[in-house]
Amino acid sequence: MPTRSFPRWLRIVADMDELSQVAAAAVAQAIHESVAATGKCRLALAGGLTPRQLYQLLATRYHRELPWNQVHCFFGDERYVPADDPRSNYRMAKETLLDKVHLPRNHVHPMPTAEADYRHAAAQYESTLREHFGDDPWPRFDLVLLGLGEDGHTASLFPHSTVLEERVHWVAPALAPAEPQRRLTLTYPVFNHAARVYFLVSGGGKARALKLALRDDAHYEMAPAAAIRPPEGELVWWVDEAAAMEIRYPKDAPQ
Ligand code: 6PG
Repeated sequence: MPTRSFPRWLRIVADMDELSQVAAAAVAQAIHESVAATGKCRLALAGGLTPRQLYQLLATRYHRELPWNQVHCFFGDERYVPADDPRSNYRMAKETLLDKVHLPRNHVHPMPTAEADYRHAAAQYESTLREHFGDDPWPRFDLVLLGLGEDGHTASLFPHSTVLEERVHWVAPALAPAEPQRRLTLTYPVFNHAARVYFLVSGGGKARALKLALRDDAHYEMAPAAAIRPPEGELVWWVDEAAAMEIRYPKDAPQ
C-alpha cells in the first residue's frame, strides 16, 4: 500500500518511546529558543498518560542543560480533584517532572481545585494568568503541550460541549463525559494564540480521532482538537505509527 508524504507539521515515529524522545528534544529546543529570545519560557503542560515519559526525559536527560529558573509551568487543563488525587494532572507532572528539576516554587502554577465552586476556580486561574501575562488581550504561551482523546477532545475541550464556544474567558469550567466530570480548561483563543503547540498522540485507540482531527473539513464539534490551529504559531503533531494507521492506510480509501 503506498504511503503518502506528510507535511512538516506531522511527525510520525515508531512508538511511544521514540515519540517521547523526539518530542522531548523539541520541547528542550523550544525552551532554549524562548529563553534566548525573551529571557523566559511560559509552558502549558498536558495531562493524561501520554506525556509522562516526555516529562521524565526532561527531568533526566535534559535536566542539567535546561534553564529551569527561567521556565514557568502552567497547565492546559485539570481534573477538578484534590492536588494529591491520583487522577490529578498536577500530581502526574509533579511526580514525573516538577519535583525533579530546579524550578523556583513560584514558577509552578497549578490550576486551583480546592474551591467549592469550580467556576470560581476558573476565574481564579484566569487572574493568575493575567498577573503573569499582563494586559495582553490573550496570553501567548511559548509552548503548549496537548494530548488527544479517543473522542477527539484535547485538554478538556470535549465534543459538543459549551466550552467550545468560549471566546471571552481564558479559563473555563468544563464537563467531561467521564469521571471526574468537572474540569478546568484553557480555551480555544488561548491555545490558538500560542507560539508553539505540540500534540502528543500514541496508540491505535487514537487512530480514528487523529484522522478526524487532521481532515481539512474537520468540524470542531466532532473533533475539538481539529480547531487548535494557531495562525501565528508553530503546530506540530507528534504521533506514533499505531495512532497514524488510519491516515497512512485509510480504511475508507479506494482499494
Ligand atoms: C486530561 C488531558 C486530556 C488528555 C487526553 C489524552 O486531563 O486527561 O488533558 O486532554 O490529553 O485525554 O489522554 P492520554 O494521554 O491519557 O491518552
